[in-house]
Amino acid sequence: MMKLWVFLATVTIFLTIKYVNGVAVMSIDLGSEWMKIGIVLPGVPMEIVLNKESKRKTPAVISFKDNIRTFGEEAQTVGIRFPKNSYSYLIDLLGKDINHPLVKLYQSRFPYYNIIEDAQRGTILFKHDDETTYSPEELIAQLLHRAKEFAETNAQQPIKECVLTVPGYFNQAERKALLQAAELANLKVLQLINDYTAVALNYGIFRIKHFNETAQYVMFFDMGASSTTVTIVSYQTIKTKEKGFVETHPQLTVIGVGYDRSLGGLEIQLRLRDYLATKFNEMKKTPNDVFQNPRAMAKLFKEAGRVKNVLSANADHYAQIEGLLDEKDFRIQITRDEMERLCSDLYDRVAEPVKKALKVAGLSADVLNQVILFGAGTRSPKVQKILQDIVGQDLAKNINTDEAAAMGAVYKAADLSTGFQVKKFITKDGVVFPIQVVFEREAEGAVKLVKRTLFGVMNPYPQKKIITFNKHTHDFSFSVNYAELDHLPEQEILNLGALNLTEINLEGVAEVIERNKGDNIESKGIKAHFAFDESGILKLVNAELVVEKTVTPEAEQEAEGTFSKLGSTISKLFSGDSGTPEKTEEPAPEEQKEESTTKEEVLNNNTSKNDTNPNKNSTEQEAPKEIKPKVVIVKEPIKAFEKVLHINKLTKLQLEESSNKLEKLNVIDRELNRRATALNNLESYVIDAQNKLDEDEYAQASTPEELEKIRTACSLVSDWLYEDGSDADADTYETKLNELKVLTKDLYLRVFEHKERPEAIEALKSILNGSVHFLESAKNLTKTKNPEKDIYTDIEIETLQKVINETQEWMDKKISEQDKLNKYEPIKLTVKLLSEKMALLDREVKYLVNKLKIWKPKKTELPKEENKTTDDDSKTEDNEEVIEEEVEDTIEQPDVEVSSDDVKPSKSTDDDGNHSEL
Ligand SMILES: *[C@@H]1O[C@H](CO)[C@@H](O)[C@H](O)[C@H]1NC(C)=O
Ligand SMILES: *[C@@H]1O[C@H](CO)[C@@H](O)[C@H](O)[C@H]1NC(C)=O
Ligand SMILES: *[C@@H]1O[C@H](CO)[C@@H](O)[C@H](O)[C@H]1NC(C)=O
Ligand SMILES: *[C@@H]1O[C@H](CO)[C@@H](O)[C@H](O)[C@H]1NC(C)=O
Ligand SMILES: *[C@@H]1O[C@H](CO)[C@@H](O)[C@H](O)[C@H]1NC(C)=O
Ligand SMILES: *[C@@H]1O[C@H](CO)[C@@H](O)[C@H](O)[C@H]1NC(C)=O
Ligand SMILES: *[C@@H]1O[C@H](CO)[C@@H](O)[C@H](O)[C@H]1NC(C)=O
Repeated sequence: MMKLWVFLATVTIFLTIKYVNGVAVMSIDLGSEWMKIGIVLPGVPMEIVLNKESKRKTPAVISFKDNIRTFGEEAQTVGIRFPKNSYSYLIDLLGKDINHPLVKLYQSRFPYYNIIEDAQRGTILFKHDDETTYSPEELIAQLLHRAKEFAETNAQQPIKECVLTVPGYFNQAERKALLQAAELANLKVLQLINDYTAVALNYGIFRIKHFNETAQYVMFFDMGASSTTVTIVSYQTIKTKEKGFVETHPQLTVIGVGYDRSLGGLEIQLRLRDYLATKFNEMKKTPNDVFQNPRAMAKLFKEAGRVKNVLSANADHYAQIEGLLDEKDFRIQITRDEMERLCSDLYDRVAEPVKKALKVAGLSADVLNQVILFGAGTRSPKVQKILQDIVGQDLAKNINTDEAAAMGAVYKAADLSTGFQVKKFITKDGVVFPIQVVFEREAEGAVKLVKRTLFGVMNPYPQKKIITFNKHTHDFSFSVNYAELDHLPEQEILNLGALNLTEINLEGVAEVIERNKGDNIESKGIKAHFAFDESGILKLVNAELVVEKTVTPEAEQEAEGTFSKLGSTISKLFSGDSGTPEKTEEPAPEEQKEESTTKEEVLNNNTSKNDTNPNKNSTEQEAPKEIKPKVVIVKEPIKAFEKVLHINKLTKLQLEESSNKLEKLNVIDRELNRRATALNNLESYVIDAQNKLDEDEYAQASTPEELEKIRTACSLVSDWLYEDGSDADADTYETKLNELKVLTKDLYLRVFEHKERPEAIEALKSILNGSVHFLESAKNLTKTKNPEKDIYTDIEIETLQKVINETQEWMDKKISEQDKLNKYEPIKLTVKLLSEKMALLDREVKYLVNKLKIWKPKKTELPKEENKTTDDDSKTEDNEEVIEEEVEDTIEQPDVEVSSDDVKPSKSTDDDGNHSEL
């Protein structure tokens, strides 16, 4: 029976089958210099997406010139000639005001841009020309959108969901800005993942077997284009309880981070650029100052990048540029020593982030199990030497880490999306910038400023926390700020921008308190709920007054109507809580002395009570517990207004305007693409047709007149393309192509038929053959022949016999008819007709096979030869399960490869051989 299935499969392989995929997800690792894209498709392992030039990474550069937008290498090329038109190193400009030190640094590095202030937000805009400005969000949105297009081209389907990497040192404003850029790019961000966490995850998933309950410590040292980050991660297995089962999972925890936002390859390249420029000026080849010429500076920048790379492997090298300025050439030798001298202060900075990361982690270097290098900057022998001296061990530099962040992020994306199942790898990130709540308190007549840490350094997240205010009886406000930044270098504190994030004003406090007063009521304070989400973004969830009402059963009946009881039951159902009230929220006893307390609450997603609506009271009732009187917890929302003191996000209106601006650019792109594609299609069609007409196959299948007609049409189009047609529009190209297609259609079809017919005939013959064999065996399974196994009726046997006979006759007749025809005459025996006959036979046989399968033997087993109904014995292994699925389908549907993947190899098949179930 199995074998029969295999021969049926040959039918389905012959017909073309379109398999509709599930939904793909992607990742984008957007750095300051490069963009890398990961993708995961159903049934395909995760992989890196190739760009238009078939490369695995794309320069994160965008340019605009003469209404044409380009990306990547093309945009870099534009940037050499028109530096102002090409934008790069953008990611560091997100979420900053115009006075931010990193904005100032950018301006000094690339002085040819016209950077102005966004009057509404205080952020920056590139003034591109008189009419156009671009915000960093808009430029980055376009890069992300292009990444999305690459992935979609690769996947052959639209992709919406992604995980984006983000530098771990990105603060609240920067993260929010990146999310808005993604929104403008039409991407749904499942999560922002810190770049180092993505790398650590990728490292971990390939080493799962190496982890056990003892923590292993790995340091990741990343020196990229614009920054250096050091991360210490601990790996271990942990036990979790899920649905009553204890399971062991690998877990990574980020326990230490140190960084330097302006230490990287870019700074070295810029210093080399300026060095080369100075040397050129010193040569006095022209009276003009090369520093004043953006185009020459762009050339020097590019050359500096090349020289820098060469010098990481060679002791010296020549920098040379033809026609650098005023058509004067430039050539100079530079040694590695010279370069290192130019950058000596930079090397001094390498050790600092390493020390900071160790300090934050509370570890000494000797407990590190491994030190992993990544980022182009770590190729420098000098950097490696410095690092080696601090950590006192060999560095793992052979690990390919260039794509690790994109891969780790796409693993996360697969994990978060609904379409995939991935092995669980618990990932705990750590807060880099601690958050505190600051408020005023009156004590002994004086007003005192009180600070409470909400999320401390390396606090794991995602996590929710609650701060409780016990003494406030009227409207009040508090600030949410960055806290204790002692673990950061001076410069990095400046790079954070404003240290105050938001001011939160609570309103209607007195009224709410008044409403919840009484002898039997004890206030539990005003609670503000905060969440530090997976993306590292802090959110105020809600604020509420919480009181405990003590009620005797009788009083309870008075106070609470049937409805509130019902409500409380329902609320318990939703919270999946079997009676115990939410004690997680309560301040621990030792903390109760404090006027305000914070208490961790793990974000376990069960807090589904709908208490975010400020107009609704939610009431929760404590379970009877056999103790009287009862305690009822009542929560009443308090209106909370958040005022942003940091960088404002794009408003809804601004988002809309940006979105329209980008859509206009997309339309232009699409039109250009369509034209290029149409032109290309027409050109290739003509060349292809001209080649074909020279082939015997085509000559034989057509009359001389027909051939001549096509030939003429082709040369007309070809001539036109090189003259008048060279700048025609897409419609014109498409029309011309369609005309040619009409002209060649019949000929191409005939050639196709002649070519495919022999194979189709062979397939039909083979199916006939198989059917005849099957029929022979089936004949033995009728009442007359075999009373033990009367599976088939005589009618069924006869019907199959008839179909076989008719098919045989039909085939013989048609073959002979077709053979009499000339090759240029219309086809009588088409591949389609042959396929239909195959389908018919297949249906008949499948019907009988199915009958055989569902027929229950009385006791004994069927003899083996019943199953030998096919001539193909080669592929019989564990596909028995598939049949059941196949028989339901019509012949056009099943795809052998696909369905067998879905079926688990059956244990019984393995144990009992192939025929046990008969
Ligand atoms: C855990 O793994 C480390 C290194 O692979 C090994 O040295 C150690 O003995 C292991 N510990 C246990 C409890 O298996
Ligand atoms: C930041 O917040 C603190 C505490 O609320 C306040 O004292 C300080 O004045 C604020 N700073 C600025 C610049 O707003
Ligand atoms: C919370 O649950 C919802 C639906 O049950 C799910 O979509 C979401 O991903 C969960 N969030 C977390 C943080 O587990
Ligand atoms: C929660 O409340 C919002 C409106 O405040 C409503 O749209 C949503 O459906 C509610 N969810 C549940 C689970 O009751
Ligand atoms: C909230 O509950 C209190 C009593 O607990 C009640 O007086 C008040 O009217 C309720 N507010 C709303 C908006 O339902
Ligand atoms: C038909 O079945 C009988 C009994 O099972 C068997 O002895 C005989 O060999 C079979 N004949 C054919 C042609 O398969
Ligand atoms: C099928 O053809 C065979 C000979 O080729 C003949 O003996 C048989 O009767 C035919 N059966 C039917 C149902 O036409």
